Amino acid sequence: MGAFLGIDIGTSGTKTIVMRADGEILGSATVEYPLSNPKPGWSEQDPEDWWNAVVESTKKAIKSAKIKAEEISGIGLSGQMHGSVFLDKSSEVLRPAILWNDQRTAAECLDIEKKAGGREKLIEMVANPALTGFTAPKIMWVKKNEPKIFDKTAQILLPKDYIRFRLTGTYATEVSDASGTLLLDVSQRVWCKPLLDKLDIPLSLLPKMHESEEITGTVSAIAAKQLGLKAGIAVVGGAGDQAAGAVGNGIVKRGVISATMGTSGVVFAHSDEMQIDPQGRVHTFCHAVKGKWHVMGCVLSAGGSLQWYRNTLGLVEVADARRLKTDPYNLITEQAAEAPAGCEGLFFLPYLTGERTPHADPLARGAWVGLTIRHGRAHLIRAVMEGATYAMRDCLEIINELKIPIREIRVSGGGARSQFWRQMQADVYGRRVVTINAEEGPAYGVALLAAAGTGEYKSVVEACTATIRVNGATDPNSEAKRVYNKSYPMFGKLYRSLKPDFPELAKLVDV
Ligand code: XUL
Repeated sequence: MGAFLGIDIGTSGTKTIVMRADGEILGSATVEYPLSNPKPGWSEQDPEDWWNAVVESTKKAIKSAKIKAEEISGIGLSGQMHGSVFLDKSSEVLRPAILWNDQRTAAECLDIEKKAGGREKLIEMVANPALTGFTAPKIMWVKKNEPKIFDKTAQILLPKDYIRFRLTGTYATEVSDASGTLLLDVSQRVWCKPLLDKLDIPLSLLPKMHESEEITGTVSAIAAKQLGLKAGIAVVGGAGDQAAGAVGNGIVKRGVISATMGTSGVVFAHSDEMQIDPQGRVHTFCHAVKGKWHVMGCVLSAGGSLQWYRNTLGLVEVADARRLKTDPYNLITEQAAEAPAGCEGLFFLPYLTGERTPHADPLARGAWVGLTIRHGRAHLIRAVMEGATYAMRDCLEIINELKIPIREIRVSGGGARSQFWRQMQADVYGRRVVTINAEEGPAYGVALLAAAGTGEYKSVVEACTATIRVNGATDPNSEAKRVYNKSYPMFGKLYRSLKPDFPELAKLVDV
């Protein structure tokens, strides 16, 4: 039986897994690298760090899998989306990659909208509005602020596609990740020439387009030597980390939705037809399933809000956890459970890093609202968890509005590992949530794409059906569901009330 590598070039590190053709994970390794913030709101990484992490994690994963490197018969690549790697004509990296969470491009987003003929026209062309995280605004920023770099640029690649180049020597991408550049005609699954012309970005700067399970090249002799692999292994298109994670969760059919609470929270729905939110609140991207699409809502600080709590106000729990040899989150959520659902009127707005869905507002800020003398630590924590979960519900509501059926919600990430937060999700969404047997996320998804693309399965849908199973379910508690249904409208109202003050608030801070 063959084995496949799934490599995910994440923001904090690269994770590589070795998967047997039947879906069994044989080994895995993660290698971390730094993130640089040269100015407030800027976020960059050195692509060489990604490559070194790919080499090291691949060697370690194969070693931990206790297989021979010759048994690897396909590689799938996943990665942080939207980042931009600028290469010169000798394929040398011209400047650090600008990442998905970089916020420097507000002016370029407005400029793109204007050049496209307005927001609506832009959504018509590329299915999405201009957001600071997306790739096109970054390209426009380099063009305006670093013209010498732009003049030397011969190719622009997404993070995982830079790794593909290092592995295979080919410039190629695939439709799911390319959707997040804002330069893809998402309906036709090709680069959007009309928009490229309006923005004066030559088509020649962009790589060749593939479907996610297509073979895009093979491992070169030089790369094979560095990685300890055999040359000639097929490298399939792979997917941006969200579509890859969705494949890893089996979100490849109509009606099955995922709600993943990591640092950010993502609600992801498969769609057989292209569905656009005319207001641009959710992203409409090509799926890693051939000829299909997906709709996705992204909450920037979901688990990240609780992480912030732990790192700032949770130092007591961190110290206690060290003493009790447990995870601080166990102690934090145990306390949250002492407060009642709805937190007796206390709300937390989780906009600690601005927001994408549904507000697309980089200036949105976090807040506890409704504090009274009755509220204690348990309420503060529970409100943070409820706020993040209400924000996830915002995404689900839009998917529902778009008439995408929601028959099953698969929860994953940190928010699904805790039984308490799983129950809260069921209660806030007002629906049963289920868990699945696979926990490896994007790396697993692209290993499955590699297995499908090299003929081990007929399609990625078949690969998912053969390997992924539901292994648990949590139903809503009717009383908690009632409380949350009553409180939820206030969550949206509080954002709308505070919104006019956010720009002024931002002016008080030197950003
Ligand atoms: C998706 C997104 C993030 C990044 C980093 O739109 O911005 O998921 O891909 O993980």
